[in-house]
Amino acid sequence: MLTLKRARPAARALTSVLLAAATVTALSHSASAADSLASAAAGKGRYFGTAVAANHLGEAAYANTLDQEFGAVTPENEMKWDATESTRGAFTFTAADQIVSHAQSKGMKVRGHTLVWHSQLPSWVSGLAASDLRTAMNNHITQLMQHYKGKIYAWDVVNEAFQDGSSGARRSSPFQDKLGNGFIEEAFRTARSVDPDAKLCYNDYNTDGVNAKSNAVYAMVKDFKSRGVPIDCVGFQSHFNSASPVPSDYQANLQRFADLGVDVQITELDIEGSGAAQATSYGTVVKACLAVTRCTGMTVWGVTDKYSWRSSGTPLLFDSNYAKKPAYDAVLAALGGTGGGGGGGTGATCTVTFARTADWSDGYNGEVTVKAGSSPITGWSVPVAFASPQKVTALWNGSPSWDAGGTVATVRPTYNGSLAAGASTSFGFTVAKNGSSALPAVGACTAS
Ligand code: XIL
Repeated sequence: MLTLKRARPAARALTSVLLAAATVTALSHSASAADSLASAAAGKGRYFGTAVAANHLGEAAYANTLDQEFGAVTPENEMKWDATESTRGAFTFTAADQIVSHAQSKGMKVRGHTLVWHSQLPSWVSGLAASDLRTAMNNHITQLMQHYKGKIYAWDVVNEAFQDGSSGARRSSPFQDKLGNGFIEEAFRTARSVDPDAKLCYNDYNTDGVNAKSNAVYAMVKDFKSRGVPIDCVGFQSHFNSASPVPSDYQANLQRFADLGVDVQITELDIEGSGAAQATSYGTVVKACLAVTRCTGMTVWGVTDKYSWRSSGTPLLFDSNYAKKPAYDAVLAALGGTGGGGGGGTGATCTVTFARTADWSDGYNGEVTVKAGSSPITGWSVPVAFASPQKVTALWNGSPSWDAGGTVATVRPTYNGSLAAGASTSFGFTVAKNGSSALPAVGACTAS
């Protein structure tokens, strides 16, 4: 094949150029490729995570966006009681394991969600009498935490145990109603005894500002700390919309909890809306976390609007075509990252497709097609992660900048940056397999 014949000799000539580029990039990260949410957050000593659903991991755009942008995951439903112990004593970990091993293979943190919660709770649990319920609760905590021991950064041990409104009271649940106020303390003590290395969090919603509900949680945490009940962190879900916007005292509220001697985390962030208003709210949340030393990280409740639990409210950072939204730019900017490309109002978007165009025993050629969205674009960039120990020996119609490890190339245009709306261009490369025939992971396209 003609292309192949031309590409392989060119490969040798280009090798030294590419190696030189890799070295330079390694030394000057800030001047190189656009940051991801994860890398920008890491620069501030924080993680930036997302909720993940196991059944979407097989969708290339989903997995690529996840892998490119996020440094932590929370299984959206897969670790909940109804998913893991729908029948008493019979534990199912398949879907959650899939997420955890994906995360581990990419070096992402995992938040465990959640051990004791009134919702997504099988009916056999609510049918138990008190002493049996106590046994079942402690066994559930023990089995899950043992299964994932050493793999979980933080567990939401108890979720949503307080009532909304002005009462500050506990919410009615099988645990509360049958075991009384002590169930939370008991759950945390059991959790600590099973995995002393995981951070143990209490997690709730409508506790994001100072109000009766957050005051009640605050009093509980203060009491736990004074009596030595093991608690390490408080999660603030932060599900916002026009009826429940980001509170003006959000940062102050995070700070008062941190001052009790616990870490705070934003655990399920999503903000309904669009455009600049949504972007501004996201920026406010990120800045609040960064301003609180003990705010250790942020998690958005999903990768894309396409699969959000509140999809019609378009509350996430990537739209349903995986294009970055202005909210993405605002988050990246608040994290001090460079790059962006969420359009910021320009409407510039692009998508990518990948094909292996030739394959031989010790190498292959790949081609990435870049297609402009519904607006013209003047530039694009595409991250391509190659499987180690593969080596790229040639790359044409694109200009790569390499990460420090020399496996991820962020490819930008050489002559082919300007595309009319809906028009395409492509770049290609030759890869020496070095024993691995794995395909590269082609990340989301960023347009300008
Ligand atoms: C939601 C999931 O996103 C949905 O897919 C599911 O149907 C219901 O639960 N508070 C929590 C999360 O702690 O577990 C919830 O997740 C959203 C509210």
